[in-house]
Amino acid sequence: MTAQDSRAIEDSHYAQYYARKPVTIVRGKGTLLYDDRGKEYVDCTGAYGACIVGHAHPRVAKAIADQAEKLIACHGSVYNDTRASFTSKLTNILPKGLDRIFLSNSGTEAVECAIKVARKFTGRRKVVAVKGGFHGKTHGALSATWDAKYRKNFEPLVPGFAHIPFENVEAAKETVTNDTAAILVEPIQGEGGIRVPSKSWMGLLQDLVHDGGGLLVADEIQTGFGRTGKLFASEHLGMQPDILCLGKGVASGLPIGITAANSETMGSLSVGEHTSTFGGNPVVCAAGSATIDVLFDERLVDNAAKVGEYFKAGLLRMMSWHRIIREVRGLGLMLAVEARFDVHQIILDALQQGVLMLDAGRNILRFLPPLCIQPEHVDRVLEILPNILEKEELAKLPG
Ligand SMILES: Cc1ncc(COP(=O)(O)O)c(C=O)c1O
Repeated sequence: MTAQDSRAIEDSHYAQYYARKPVTIVRGKGTLLYDDRGKEYVDCTGAYGACIVGHAHPRVAKAIADQAEKLIACHGSVYNDTRASFTSKLTNILPKGLDRIFLSNSGTEAVECAIKVARKFTGRRKVVAVKGGFHGKTHGALSATWDAKYRKNFEPLVPGFAHIPFENVEAAKETVTNDTAAILVEPIQGEGGIRVPSKSWMGLLQDLVHDGGGLLVADEIQTGFGRTGKLFASEHLGMQPDILCLGKGVASGLPIGITAANSETMGSLSVGEHTSTFGGNPVVCAAGSATIDVLFDERLVDNAAKVGEYFKAGLLRMMSWHRIIREVRGLGLMLAVEARFDVHQIILDALQQGVLMLDAGRNILRFLPPLCIQPEHVDRVLEILPNILEKEELAKLPG
């Protein structure tokens, strides 16, 4: 099938819900992707953060193939060896005390489960989220997601949600009260533009919700599993979540959502109140176990910290030469360049020059490469960006 065939079919028959880039990706290896003509790209998107150990990692690919030959479908109503082994590996590395998990198929589902658990456990309805936050697009999670562009055509959303401004102390004190079931918060806002809160503000949220008898729910769907240079971004901020949501790269890009808490909290839902036909699928669990093994054996969390620092330093150097850059921010391999203008053309030009990049809002470039990225890949990105930025500057900031 040619590029034209693939695009024509998807354009004709696939719902047009994604802003598509004009490229047909057919293969990947580590940090690199290849299109249908064999052109190579440095992947700074990591499949929206879902590729953490690198594309087509041989150990993950083998685990998937081996499991697929043994058993593909296995419902949660019977026990399964592969699911048990993944559950054991995962609960060994989760923050202390979070030793009971529910497996689903996406980030938004992990959040749905967290909302239900928090409401049932506390017997309360109110969930406080943060302006600029993103938690998914199904109705419960969407009620916590901030951006009006995702929400406005689907109201009424689920009642009981309140949003407080990022870093605002007074609003937090007023809103988080003793009728609050949970604060649902990303340690670092991803879709919202890679915004890193202060440790003191996050500490205040944690104290407020705990003092009022509610739960702290950390949405680490984008930040978790090493992305920020620590296994969980909560560690940077001194957070001790009562419920943790994970997704994206945990199974190297196979569909997964994880909701974790202690046994008492998770035990508040009874049999049948929350299930999923595909949740805990053995092929996904095999991929998850292999992903955890690779993450530790190849020391990818350390690599994210080290190469992330190198990447950020390069972007900061660029900021001193280019007026178009307003700010460089982020931790580990979760980085952003905030520009003074729309970054759409920058992303298209970078694609032409063999680098796949993401946005996070109109004027923010976002970098979420696989955690195995090496300095030589970063150099390729830093090499092409100055010319692209200069062209945009000339077009948009004359004189
Ligand atoms: C922080 C956060 N929460 C939830 C989600 C929703 O995950 P999914 O797209 O797998 O439903 C995302 C996805 O980008 C996310 O970044």
